[in-house]
Parts: sequence; structure tokens; C-alpha cells
Amino acid sequence: MKNIHDDIERVLFTSEELVKRAEEIGRQITQDYKGEEVTVIGILKGSFMFLSDVLKNVDLYTKLDFVTVQSYGNGTTSGELRLTKDISADIKGKHVILVEDILDSGKTLKFVKDLFLEREPASIKVCTLLNKKVRKSEVIKADYIGFDVDNVFVVGYGLDYAQLYRNLPYIGELKVEAR
Ligand code: XMP
Ligand code: MG
Repeated sequence: MKNIHDDIERVLFTSEELVKRAEEIGRQITQDYKGEEVTVIGILKGSFMFLSDVLKNVDLYTKLDFVTVQSYGNGTTSGELRLTKDISADIKGKHVILVEDILDSGKTLKFVKDLFLEREPASIKVCTLLNKKVRKSEVIKADYIGFDVDNVFVVGYGLDYAQLYRNLPYIGELKVEAR
């Protein structure tokens, strides 16, 4: 019987490395926002595992919410973006931290950030687990970055291919024959 692990060409980040880095970012956020309340907004679905590991180390009054962004065409962002699930709370005057799985062209994060900026938060910062080194454009910069990655398609620790592999505890490169 074939197993999901057999579809991985090589592991890029182990579970231990990912958790350790998420913990570091959580502690950094705690320091940066000392004494403040933060509103953490995860971009579904890819950010869920990273977000939970970061949050366990954020020792602040924290509100949590999620958005879903959909683009026409699947996989990486190609066409027009749409918010298919909005947050329920008002973020006016709040310190917002957006959390994403991977920053590729930056279009997704820029779209969400611009949308939320109109709602007059006290501040908005961007936190991404992965940052593709070869970027198609420089439309947005992340304030917190887990790791830089080469321009390969990665799955695991929240990231998917055709909605699969999100549950892998590590991040790996998918075998060509699995795509
Ligand atoms: P942009 O270009 O808007 O793209 O920064 C970000 C979105 O594209 C998806 N993406 C990936 N998903 N492995 C994935 O599982 C990848 O290597 C990859 N590269 C881009 C991802 O959904 C992200 O939100
Ligand atoms: Mg995504």
C-alpha cells in the first residue's frame, strides 16, 4: 500500500525545525508587542499548523480570526482574488498580524493587507512561514519570515497539493510523479 510519505522527494524542513522556528517567531511577537493586545488573522487553509505553533508562544492578550482567499485557477495565484470568508470582528484601532503559509508573488498577502488597511487598524504586520527567494514581484515584504525557500513546489505542515499533504508534520518537495 502506498503511503503519503512515499510521494515526497526530499524533506526540506523537519518537524523539529519548523516547531522551533515557529516558537522563535512567537517569542519575537511577544517582545515586539509587549503590553498590547493583538489580533492574529490566519489565511486559510495553509497557515493553520504554523499559526498554532506560533500562537502557543505568544504571551499576549490575543484574538484569533481567519480569512479565506480564493483565486481563479488553483495551486499558485494566477487570476483575480476574492475574499470568500471574512473576519467577524472589527479591527479598527487593533494591532493586526496576518499569517500566511508561503509568500510567492505576494499578491495574496497584498490583497488582504490592502483590504484590512481600509478598516483603520492601529497597525498591520505580515508573518509568513515560507518566503520564496525567487519572487515574481516585490509587491509586499513580510515582517516575520520562517524560512526562505527555493522556487520548488512544497507541501506539508499546512501546505497542500490538490488539498492533500497538509497533515505532514514536515515540509517536503513533492515527487514529480505525484503531481
Ligand atoms: P502569492 O503568489 O499570492 O501566492 O504570494 C501565495 C499562495 O500560493 C500558493 N503557493 C503554494 N502552495 N506550495 C503550496 O502548497 C507551494 O510551493 C506554493 N507556492 C505558492 C499558496 O497557497 C499561497 O497562499
Ligand atoms: Mg495559501
